[in-house]
Amino acid sequence: MNYNEILIGPIKQLVGLSEVPIRGALANDALIIEEDIWLHLKDGKLHKKLNKSDAYNADLEVLELVKDHIVLPGFIDAHTHICFHGSRSKDYAMRNAGISYLEIAKAGGGIWDTVTHTRNASQEELVEGILDRVDVLITRGITTVEVKSGYGLSVKEELKMLRAIKEANSKTQIDLIPTCLAAHIKPRDFEGSHAEYLDYIIDELFPILVEEKLCKRVDAFIEEEAFSGNVVYRYFAKARELGFDITVHADQFHPGGSRVAIEHEALSADHLEASTNAEIIALAKSNTVAMALPGASIGLGCAFTPARKILDANGILAIASDWNPGSAPMGDLLTQACILGTFEKLSNPEVLAGITKRAAKALDLNDRGYIDIGLKADLLFFEGKDYNEVFYHQGKKLPDMVFKNGKLIYKK
Ligand code: NIG
Ligand code: FE
Repeated sequence: MNYNEILIGPIKQLVGLSEVPIRGALANDALIIEEDIWLHLKDGKLHKKLNKSDAYNADLEVLELVKDHIVLPGFIDAHTHICFHGSRSKDYAMRNAGISYLEIAKAGGGIWDTVTHTRNASQEELVEGILDRVDVLITRGITTVEVKSGYGLSVKEELKMLRAIKEANSKTQIDLIPTCLAAHIKPRDFEGSHAEYLDYIIDELFPILVEEKLCKRVDAFIEEEAFSGNVVYRYFAKARELGFDITVHADQFHPGGSRVAIEHEALSADHLEASTNAEIIALAKSNTVAMALPGASIGLGCAFTPARKILDANGILAIASDWNPGSAPMGDLLTQACILGTFEKLSNPEVLAGITKRAAKALDLNDRGYIDIGLKADLLFFEGKDYNEVFYHQGKKLPDMVFKNGKLIYKK
C-alpha cells in the first residue's frame, strides 16, 4: 500500500486539540471531540477531514478501521537525555537507602559517573543506544523527542554526543530535536572555575555547533553542584547572541533557575519541583513554558512540579519524561503524565495538551502538536470508544498504530 496518500476511517473519536489555548487550565469538557471522521493524509500532512459519505466518494487508497478507534496527536517528549552510556542502578539503590541525589553528586557519582561511561563509548555505540530507546518510545506514541547532550562535557565529547544525535535522527522516522547541555556540571577534570569552563564552551564549542548545524538550543543546569544563576547569565547572553534558543534545568532542588530562564526569554524552564509561589507567578506571566518532569520526581522520590498552581495562575504547562540514567530511568511519558495528573489534580485535557500542543510550544515547533489541516500527520490510533480510557489506564493503554509524517511507522 502506498502511504503517500491515504484515507483512514471511520474514526470513532478524533481529539485534535486545535481549539485548545496555549496557556491556562482546561476543564474536562474543554475538548472538541469529532465523531465518525475519516482522515485524508497526503504528502506527510493532514489534507482533509471528511464525513462518511464524502469518504466513500473519494478515489483513494483506503485503510478501513474495522474496530472503534480514538485518534490523538502524536506525543512530544520535550525533555530527555536518551544519549548516554552505562547504568546508574547503584545510584538508585543508594538513593532509596537514604543518600540524596546531591550527596551522591558531591561524592563524585551521579552525572559524573554517566560522563565517564559516555566518554568511553564510541559515537556508533551512542547511536545504537539512542535508536534502541527511540524504538521503545515509538511503541509508546512518541513522534517527536528532544535529546540533550551533557554527558560529554568537553568540546570533543559534546561534539561526539551531538553528532550521534544527528546521526540517530537520520536513521529513525521520528524527529529528534537536539539540545546542547554542555553546562550540565563542571567536569571534574577541568582545571578552572565554572565561569572559565563556560567561557571555554562559548569560545570553542558554540562556533562548531553553528557551523555543523548540530543544534539550535542551549540548556544549563542551575543548581548547587552544577552552575549558579550568575555564571549562567553571561553564558545564555552569549548563546542568544549567536541565535540559540534557551531552555533551563530550573528550580529542581532550590528556586533560582526559573528567574534566569524568564530573563533570557527561555522557551522553557524545566523541573520546577522547588518553585515557590513567587516563581509560579513569574512564570505564569511570562511566555516561558513551565515543564513538569514527573519521571524525575518518581525516580528521586521528590515532590511533583506544582502543575495545578501553574495552570491556575494561567501558565503554560508541558510535561516531559526527562528520560536519563540518573534521576529518571523509567522513560515512560504517558505513565508519568497520568501519575502527575492524579497527584496534581489535572484534567485529562490538561495532561493531553501537556504532552502534545503545549510541548510543541516548548520546542518552538508550530507544525505539530495538534491535528489540523496542513499540519504534520503525526497521529496515534488507540482502540476504543472514549479518549478518557487512554488516561484511565495510566500508560498501560498503548497505541495500536502510530503514523509519523503520514506514514504508518508502528502497528501492534
Ligand atoms: O534533568 N538535573 C539534572 N539533569 C538531569 C539528570 C541527569 C542525571 O542524573 O544523569 C535531570 O534530572
Ligand atoms: Fe533533565
